[in-house]
Amino acid sequence: MARNKIALIGSGQIGGTLAHLAGLKELGDIVLFDIAEGMPQGKALDLAESSPVDGFDSGLSGTNTYEGIEGADVVIVTAGVPRKPGMSRDDLLEINLKVMEQVGAGIKKYAPDAFVICITNPLDAMVWALQKFSGLPANKVVGMAGVLDSARFRYFLAEEFNVSVEDVTAFVLGGHGDTMVPLTRYSTVAGVPLTDLVKMGWLTAERLEEIVQRTRDGGAEIVGLLKTGSAFYAPAASAIQMAESYLKDKKRVLPCAAHLDGQYGQKDMYVGVPTVIGANGIERIIEIDLNSDEKAMFDKSVASVNGLVDACKKIQPALA
Ligand code: APR
Repeated sequence: MARNKIALIGSGQIGGTLAHLAGLKELGDIVLFDIAEGMPQGKALDLAESSPVDGFDSGLSGTNTYEGIEGADVVIVTAGVPRKPGMSRDDLLEINLKVMEQVGAGIKKYAPDAFVICITNPLDAMVWALQKFSGLPANKVVGMAGVLDSARFRYFLAEEFNVSVEDVTAFVLGGHGDTMVPLTRYSTVAGVPLTDLVKMGWLTAERLEEIVQRTRDGGAEIVGLLKTGSAFYAPAASAIQMAESYLKDKKRVLPCAAHLDGQYGQKDMYVGVPTVIGANGIERIIEIDLNSDEKAMFDKSVASVNGLVDACKKIQPALA
């Protein structure tokens, strides 16, 4: 059986890390695409030269033309501009919307059967625009945010409790940004909800709120430290988990920015919700009951995403 083909649109910090992880996990042959000449070819060659050491068989190549992504099974999009200190994800909107238009056209022409994972920020608006520009079915176009946000939450909690990250689960809803909604009653240590851990004296409600806020600000914390770019290891690992669930039909339950068509009372929008990812893409959106506080936070997050989508429609009226 031929190997799967994974196309990475954007071969910068995240793109390079995606290629490395996809190679190490032998997910398939990997094509790195970028507008910068030589860079995707250079990264592909460097990574290919690591394959004898690590013992993986993945074809790696770089390209500057969309023909190179022809027939891809998975496309992961990081093309665009990342945040610099002081910039919000939303500041990136106008530049990255134009990039999504080009990328969407390239995918439509050369990889219309792919499962497409968007990472470019501002995430929820960009994945919405990418789905429109590409014309691919909505269940095959998804945004990576929730896996990363919940990984950050899990890491901070594991550090706080001095327990393994493996035993901490986290549940994060809503847009990728300052309005994301970490659900503490569905986040657990070995099945025990955080709300119970507060009662058990493992941490105070105030400390939990601090950790929740640190999770919301997780991306900005990294931007502030790196100064020249934004996070790339954890975003890449998160998108690879989603790609693997699709390629291996694992049916993982993962929080993703998915297209809502009535779920959670929303129509034709992308926002972070729990999903099942399998061979048919987003196979199910899990609708959970929200209490009134959670609903208020979720609605605020939805309003913020809708504001960005409206801004996209103003910039590119064809999207309206
Ligand atoms: N087509 C293809 N690639 C493009 C285009 C385009 N129109 N415009 C820019 N790029 C490429 C750049 O040349 C660069 O190599 O996208 C790559 C982006 O890489 P980095 O600048 O290293 O950014 P990265 O850290 O990988 O983040 C990418 O993900 O998390 C988000 O906010 C982040 O939107 C940003 C994206």
